[in-house]
Amino acid sequence: MPRTSRPKGTQDFLPPESTKKSRIETIFRELATVYGYQEVVTPTFEHTELFIKSSGTASDIVQKEMYTFTDRGGRSLTLKPEGTPGAVRAVLENNLHLPCRLFYISPCFRYSRPQKGRYREFYQLGVEALGEASPLVDAETIAFGATFFTRLGITDFTIKVNSIGCRTCRPAYREKLLNFLRENRGKMCPDCQTRMEINPLRTFDCKNEPCQQVLTSAPLPSSHLCPECHAHFQEVISSLKNSPFNWELDPHLVRGLDYYNRTTFEYVSSALGAQSSLGGGGRYDYLFEEFGGPPAPAVGLAIGLERTLLTIPASSPVFPPERRNLVFIVWTGPGEMANARELLATLRQQNIPALMTYEPVRLKRQFHLADLAGARLCLIVGEDEVRENTYGLKNLITGEQTTVPAANLIPAILALFNSPAE
Ligand code: HAM
Repeated sequence: MPRTSRPKGTQDFLPPESTKKSRIETIFRELATVYGYQEVVTPTFEHTELFIKSSGTASDIVQKEMYTFTDRGGRSLTLKPEGTPGAVRAVLENNLHLPCRLFYISPCFRYSRPQKGRYREFYQLGVEALGEASPLVDAETIAFGATFFTRLGITDFTIKVNSIGCRTCRPAYREKLLNFLRENRGKMCPDCQTRMEINPLRTFDCKNEPCQQVLTSAPLPSSHLCPECHAHFQEVISSLKNSPFNWELDPHLVRGLDYYNRTTFEYVSSALGAQSSLGGGGRYDYLFEEFGGPPAPAVGLAIGLERTLLTIPASSPVFPPERRNLVFIVWTGPGEMANARELLATLRQQNIPALMTYEPVRLKRQFHLADLAGARLCLIVGEDEVRENTYGLKNLITGEQTTVPAANLIPAILALFNSPAE
């Protein structure tokens, strides 16, 4: 049989990483619920057009990164590169009432060059506050992400914030930027030379040194805001000033998607290297209309789960203890195996995680299997114990062993499981 390996840019989550991943998801789910969000689950693939309409034709996602295929019915479909378009489509298609707050935990797919923190399949944890226009919702969304990281024990991050204006102020700014870029065309990369004509704002995404050099003297969106956008941004800023989080203005932060207006933000961590963005988001007040719906303001964010995993410190509450709340039952001979199986069933009925081996192996091997499983506790079912209606109980963290009468067994296990693991 040919040896197969996972496709480039994908990952296997194995224990204990898989446990950390699900802890992160649980913490996100709990926090999102506390902020009034409810879960939305949208399809893994959508009509390609949905992403072109939302991300924008000049975005890297649409230009280079989509997993697009034609199905057997001749339709062009794309694996979702992000969660926002599907969530907005679902609200429109199902006529959900606004305002409406939705969260999602979803795999996403982008064909980019894999490196630390950048994968072709990755998970996004996202929230979308739909139908809410107040700058205080922008500030709340920014604080939501920061609170989430803080709950995970991640404190080494900065929030970058910017405003990129709206339909009123952007056309004049766009003209000004385009003129500037055309004057500097010769100094910019071929991609930017194309991008500037489709959406000049996209040139701010370019990572090439010469392009970045040119952009240091470019006119900035936040210096060309209309009075309404200016007031909106000031309110976001004054709310951030009252927050405990590390934040800074970044006038170059436009974000790589076309649907944003006004507030854009990103959480960056120095622990991540080149892919420093832990998460990001912004306001997108025109996307509902783009999708053929009525005008509706919206703001949201998405956090990269893998980058979060790479950043969490060893002291994080998501790190599972070395030994978990699992009982491993060891038995001494065929006569005791029946008692061990009965005990196994009783424990599981009580929702106490329990394991045993059905193989007739020596005690030493059984204790080794308990170690391999990461069990916290061994229960010993031997001849003496069966005769006396007791169990040997060995704490595998301390090595301490006691004998417990059968009637006291469950309370003894629970008391141990409820005590700190280390
Ligand atoms: P985004 O900045 O493209 O925004 O992605 C959000 C986060 O997803 C990034 O900050 C990063 O942590 C993670 N991410 C993106 N690409 C990759 C990758 N190739 N490998 C690993 N992680 C990755 C959005 O997607 C917007 N939909 C966010 C949003 C929600 N805006 C409003 N609502």
